[in-house]
Amino acid sequence: MTDRPILLFPDPRLRAVAEPVGEVTEEVRAVAEEMLRIMYAAPGRGLAGPQIGEMRRIFVMDCTWKDGTPDPRVMLDPEIVSASETLVTREEGCLSLPGFTLGLQRPEEVVLRYTDLDGTRREESFTGFAATCVQHERDHLDGVLCIDRIDPEIREAIAPLLASLGQK
Ligand code: NI
Repeated sequence: MTDRPILLFPDPRLRAVAEPVGEVTEEVRAVAEEMLRIMYAAPGRGLAGPQIGEMRRIFVMDCTWKDGTPDPRVMLDPEIVSASETLVTREEGCLSLPGFTLGLQRPEEVVLRYTDLDGTRREESFTGFAATCVQHERDHLDGVLCIDRIDPEIREAIAPLLASLGQK
């Protein structure tokens, strides 16, 4: 089967809340592999289920492959269990908003609880770009996009631009 295309803003599926994955079956592993293929081909460093119309709580990421050290990761039913008070601003892009990058402030460090492809529940701390990526992808599972995290005044200023994207 051909890999699914990446959905672009303002596709309504990007705004839906994804369902839990639950048990890790062969079918779930196949979805994870498909998502990694799509992410690398894009090329991107993170992809969440809803971005391909897969409405389950799954995301994949690889923050270092573009630097020559691939580290494919798959997170199922992820929850952020703690976040640092220290915030950091990083440029974020999104495969569903091609051509956009936004400087967004988010916690510098987060602890993520997730299920891995073996079905084991894990807890892992992320810092640096990986922490930003985890938060961005986790947001997708609740229908939240990076453009929702911008300062409301800036959001208003770029509203016409977002609306023009919607008309394409
Ligand atoms: Ni995104």
